[in-house]
Amino acid sequence: MIPDSVIEEIKSKNEISSVISAYVSLKKAGSNMQGLCPFHNEKTPSFTVFESTQSFHCFGCGAGGDVITFIRKIENLTYVEAIRFLAAKCGINIPEGDGNHKYGVRKSRILEMNKAAARFFHTALLYSDEAKAYLVKRGLSKSTVNHFGLGYAPGRNELIVHMKKLGYTEEELTYARLAGKNEKGIFSFFRNRLMFPIIDTSGSVIGFGGRIIDNSSKSKYLNTPETIAFNKGKNLFAMNYAKDYCKDEIIICEGYMDVIALHAAGFKNAVASLGTALTKGQAELIKRYTVSGKAILSYDSDGAGKEAANKGFRILTENGLDVRILRIKGAKDPDEYIKNYGADAFRELLKSSENKFDFIMNNILSKYDILTDEGKIKAANLICAEIAAFNSSVERELYAERASKRLGISKESIASEIKKQAKKKMTESTSEYKKKLHDKAIGLGDRINPERSANLKAATAEEAILGIMMLYPERMKEVFSGKSDLTEDDFVTSFNKRVFISLKKMYEEGNSDVGVLGEIFTEEEMGRIYEMKLKRNGLESSSDEVFSDNISALKAEKAVNETDIEKIIKAKLSGKNTDK
Ligand code: UTP
Ligand code: MN
Repeated sequence: MIPDSVIEEIKSKNEISSVISAYVSLKKAGSNMQGLCPFHNEKTPSFTVFESTQSFHCFGCGAGGDVITFIRKIENLTYVEAIRFLAAKCGINIPEGDGNHKYGVRKSRILEMNKAAARFFHTALLYSDEAKAYLVKRGLSKSTVNHFGLGYAPGRNELIVHMKKLGYTEEELTYARLAGKNEKGIFSFFRNRLMFPIIDTSGSVIGFGGRIIDNSSKSKYLNTPETIAFNKGKNLFAMNYAKDYCKDEIIICEGYMDVIALHAAGFKNAVASLGTALTKGQAELIKRYTVSGKAILSYDSDGAGKEAANKGFRILTENGLDVRILRIKGAKDPDEYIKNYGADAFRELLKSSENKFDFIMNNILSKYDILTDEGKIKAANLICAEIAAFNSSVERELYAERASKRLGISKESIASEIKKQAKKKMTESTSEYKKKLHDKAIGLGDRINPERSANLKAATAEEAILGIMMLYPERMKEVFSGKSDLTEDDFVTSFNKRVFISLKKMYEEGNSDVGVLGEIFTEEEMGRIYEMKLKRNGLESSSDEVFSDNISALKAEKAVNETDIEKIIKAKLSGKNTDK
């Protein structure tokens, strides 16, 4: 276990707003900071960082906690791993425990190895004439090579020899996927390839892409397989740079080389997926940095590229992004387009990209034969349903006109069909919305405290009590030194009871920082715990009276909740006590 004093030091050296800023673009809001929540989909910021208490809370999804909880959640780490991660960031050395970390290597160790490997590859570039010739052939300038930290993986086991000298074991290298193993022994995963380090938004090298530089029959690109440090579905190539340039718009391409060409031509808001189709996690990452929500898919012009653009369009749109599609003409991909026609031509192309409606309509029209009545009717209905989904009446009218022209159906018929579809959608969505509000109010579907909805009064009192205790250490002392008659048996819902018991343990160990509960609670549960505290913050309602009123309310609820048998047993027990 890591001593509390060390955890405290790590927390004090990792100021919460600066840590979170690497992941979320934060703006000052009063005495706090606000931004778009990285943990759920939202358009208006409800994610708040409180510098005074070094905590965060999202008023939209309820996520919250201290800097450790944040790192756990966003980096997908355990409590201890998150602490180690933060320790590494501020140069604090935590001695290794024995054996309790998976497969002997943790995430931070992989990141260290990747960094060392990236340096090695970058230097190796200087010694390979073949690699240098390839850079020239692809028109990659020295500054581009340095900017992206490109490198060269030599053809044999040079990397392994180098890494061993630095103290990394074969087991660790395999675990980081820098090396593979077969009957003949260990071998470098990347050999004779141009190397593209993949760097996340906090600046860590999380993996690599490697391209062949000869005409061998090996697969053109090889990417680091998933490791605990490399989650392909949650990262994008060049997002470490693009994050500062994509507030208004982001360009998403297929390939590493496309992104590099775009950045070199001045389009610093370009990123690429990592050799896989776009994922929800990537859409969320994009939303986090693209304030406008505008994304342009700039995929290859071949069939596979079109198919991938279709899928990407869907995933991004479903996640609330406003997507346009660029159709590349006269070149196979953005890299080649810029080489052939220049940056200005690409800028023009960006302007002419299809918007959401054109894209949807063209897609529908490509699936139905509108020369037949049947095909025309089906296509018209689908298109009208799509138009009905737009909120702005200006947009609806504009698209209705376009659809009418393309389908050869009168504007009036189109408009009336849209109206019908819109009405249907409206009734569906209001009833859904109402149900959601209702469920939320009574706490239905509460995964953290499932007993809450059935015991709303008790749970509310419990939360007030716990919140006040966490906020005011003197209350904590009062309760746990036995000055008030509140005990864990008074609690009705087991989650809140568990929080109470854990606070007691924390108090007895001489700790006053609620953050240490992260050791036993999941990060979602931590969000709830911080919420209790936050709800009492700034309220006048923490006086003696309020505190004792809540305790009385809880005791009364508990009595109502007790079964008859429990009452009989209690009465008997207290009877015995008075006998004595
Ligand atoms: P492309 O084949 O379009 O490559 O693959 P490219 O980016 O245009 O590269 P150059 O110009 O030929 O050098 C697009 C992306 O798909 C992934 C890579 O991420 C690549 O950048 N890919 C491609 C692989 O992961 N493996 C492959 O074998 C090929
Ligand atoms: Mn290409």
